Amino acid sequence: MTQKKTPIRVCFVCLGNICRSPTAEGVMTQLVAEAGLTEQFFIDSAGTSAYHTGEAADARSAQAALRRGVKLTSISRQFEARDLETFDYVVAMDRRNLAHLTQLARSDRERGKISLLRAYDTQADGLDVPDPYFEDNFDAVFDICRAGCTGLLQHICAERGLAR
Ligand code: 4NP
Repeated sequence: MTQKKTPIRVCFVCLGNICRSPTAEGVMTQLVAEAGLTEQFFIDSAGTSAYHTGEAADARSAQAALRRGVKLTSISRQFEARDLETFDYVVAMDRRNLAHLTQLARSDRERGKISLLRAYDTQADGLDVPDPYFEDNFDAVFDICRAGCTGLLQHICAERGLAR
């Protein structure tokens, strides 16, 4: 009998958990489904702040995602230190989020789980996913998230020996 494997747990993190990380969560969920790997993954998102706890994704992010065929379903929650125990990959949207997560980490093992989304995009022209909340760049943010998630999925598949 084949044993069901524990899913690989990925958490995307931004400041409010209503724009960038819900977008990355939605994109990654779709990429994983397209690769036939839904059963192998658990994908989530959270914010370093509690500003928007309990709220659905920002309507502007949700509309930009829907235009590209991705439905955003997350409800905002604050990232907790214990998420660094339970997730395998904790992926920050920008360097400020990364610094916050690094402060929460209690061991080298936890620190080793933290990375920046754009580090997986070989074509990236910067390290940060820009914060769209006060800007009108939701379509660009979607494309940046998709490029990062494409690279992230390749990275995880290579690291875990998953065939796509
Ligand atoms: P996010 O965007 O971090 O991508 O969800 C923001 C959402 C809310 C705020 C800032 C950024 N805010 O200041 O309330």
